[in-house]
Amino acid sequence: MRIHILSATDRPGSNAKKVSRYASEVLKEDAAVSVFSLEDYPLEDVKGGKYGQEIDSVNSFNQAFLEADGYLFVIPEYNGGFPGILKLFYDYLPFPQSFSHKPVSLIGEAAGNFGALRSVEQFEQLLKYRKAYIYPERMFIQRVNDNFDMNSGLKNESLQKLLLGQLRGFPGFVRKLNQN
Ligand SMILES: Cc1cc2nc3c(=O)[nH]c(=O)nc-3n(C[C@H](O)[C@H](O)[C@H](O)COP(=O)(O)O)c2cc1C
Repeated sequence: MRIHILSATDRPGSNAKKVSRYASEVLKEDAAVSVFSLEDYPLEDVKGGKYGQEIDSVNSFNQAFLEADGYLFVIPEYNGGFPGILKLFYDYLPFPQSFSHKPVSLIGEAAGNFGALRSVEQFEQLLKYRKAYIYPERMFIQRVNDNFDMNSGLKNESLQKLLLGQLRGFPGFVRKLNQN
């Protein structure tokens, strides 16, 4: 069973990537996992509004990411929402099949106190439009620079328990949905 994680920003040195790598280590206990980053998205190749066109670099990025049984998005908060590059990535995915009836888990992380709750819930609307099955356990990492350690996870014990609960529960959700 394969789970693909998307670090949903192109910002170099992002916390999203650190959280993605940490989540990958936990998910690997029960699944084959790969981390993808929008830092590697072929942004130059979509310049000029090439919607609906075949773009080799975009097709390769999308196909590699989509080839999984379940997905985890790690989403930062930028100006009260999710990063623009995530919407661009989403708009160039094959329609309508991407994420249709596929399990998706979400983690938010932000420098501020809302832990990207807004970003995650905004993106959930887009996932629902594409008929994804959203895993109900979600983690919103507040003040990520203080509260998260890339090797050991969240410093607060009870929040770490919730994070591990989400990550260790998700493979079972993926398995069940892929049995049907
Ligand atoms: C363009 C931009 C906008 C941001 N807006 C917010 C915001 O609205 N709320 C917030 O808590 N943090 C905001 N931040 C800080 C990020 O949440 C912070 O960089 C955090 O580490 C997550 O992003 P990262 O994965 O890029 O590191 C913003 C950062 C950038 C680069």
